[in-house]
Amino acid sequence: MAKKLHIKTYGCQMNVYDSERITEVLRPLGYEAVDDTDGADMVILNTCHIREKAAEKVYSELGRLRVQKEAMNEVGKHMVLAVTGCVAQAEGEEVLKRAPFVDMVFGPQTYHRLPQMVAEATRATGQVLDTDFPEESKFDALTESRTVEGATAFLSIQEGCDKFCTYCVVPYTRGAEFSRPAVQVLDEARELVAAGAQEITLLGQNVNSYHGEADDGSEWNLARLIRAAAEIDGLERIRFVTSYPAEVDDDLIKAHGEVEKLMPYLHLPVQAGSDRILKAMNRNHSVDEYRALVDKLRSARPDLALSSDFIVGFPGETDADFRDTLKLVEDMRFIQTYSFKYSARPGTPAALMDGQIDEAVKVERLAELQALLNAQTLAFNKQSVGKTMPVLLDRAGKKPGQLVGRSPYMQAVVVEAPEQLLNRIVDVTIISAGPNSLMGELNLDDRKACA
Ligand code: 5AD
Ligand code: SF4
Repeated sequence: MAKKLHIKTYGCQMNVYDSERITEVLRPLGYEAVDDTDGADMVILNTCHIREKAAEKVYSELGRLRVQKEAMNEVGKHMVLAVTGCVAQAEGEEVLKRAPFVDMVFGPQTYHRLPQMVAEATRATGQVLDTDFPEESKFDALTESRTVEGATAFLSIQEGCDKFCTYCVVPYTRGAEFSRPAVQVLDEARELVAAGAQEITLLGQNVNSYHGEADDGSEWNLARLIRAAAEIDGLERIRFVTSYPAEVDDDLIKAHGEVEKLMPYLHLPVQAGSDRILKAMNRNHSVDEYRALVDKLRSARPDLALSSDFIVGFPGETDADFRDTLKLVEDMRFIQTYSFKYSARPGTPAALMDGQIDEAVKVERLAELQALLNAQTLAFNKQSVGKTMPVLLDRAGKKPGQLVGRSPYMQAVVVEAPEQLLNRIVDVTIISAGPNSLMGELNLDDRKACA
């Protein structure tokens, strides 16, 4: 009988990708993914350490799982409880201390060794801790074929970060920058397409640093990789995330203008709109350099939609610095953003900086920034009304008879459509727009095609 595996994923898309691959590694051992932790033989928390709140969530979830694990023990069953991801990497020993009922802690670079770890944990030889940065790459060791749910998939091409922004834990939790060889990436892309993917998002902590080895020993940059992926038949849409502005090169800008399959949406985190704060963050670019980069990108691809990340209340941020951020947001016309209150992370330089900002000020600034960003998102969505755009319908809607998909600009689009159109790209005319989604109508041809 299949053993039940539940993976709960926190944080970024890199973790979503890792969770999928962990499921694949465990499948030959008889584990099948289930939606619930109830009665699961193994529960894995794939965790995020980026802000304090994210890390603390893990401990409260572990408290809840302890009760379930003990209940299973009482009826003679065993739940293997594991923690992976960035909390595991950053504070593995601490996890085992604070939650001694956890069986396994493994880092994001070691899950190819899971079969061995599971054997040790189920033999009850004590707790297993594996948070090395091993010599062999997990990608070389993973042989399981890829599976895809729906028509969109993530593909990890690069991991780690050498940028050391002063607030960020990623260089410590994910280690140094590493690029997968181009052939390996393209093979996986072909596998994903064969398994039904029409849209692939290339993932990297700093995806612009991609410099993967090619067959002839040369190195490919991200633009070269995108151009090669665009040649794969059946792959219709390419996206990539997350970009580091200081490393966006001219090849990539050109690709935005020339590669039709590359979607006109770019997540380009800027974090702040004040030179002083950018410098303290060690971001390696000024506000004007960011503006110039966006100008170049928009010259190459005029309809490029931009999204960004922001941190408010970074140490030393004055009201004037914050106003500069608001000004940049207005000028850049970001259509989507993720904004966060600065969270001091142990071991990062910013945590020790003078001028830490009061929580109340952070809350106020965040609310003001988010109000502006929400208004811009809504304005952009409203501009879409009356336009016809290709939408990849990749999931069922909330109401029966509805399907939901993504526009090229990543907007969620809801349409009344028959189920046969699930996982298809169809032309949709937008009829109304809200802050979080658009409502659209199928073009007559598509309605007829499945009548
Ligand atoms: N505090 C708040 N936000 C942070 N981010 C990264 N580190 C921190 C931190 N210490 C945000 C950045 C990054 C996003 C993924 O998370 O905006 O782009
Ligand atoms: Fe963190 Fe991104 Fe800066 Fe790297 S570039 S340190 S991942 S914020």
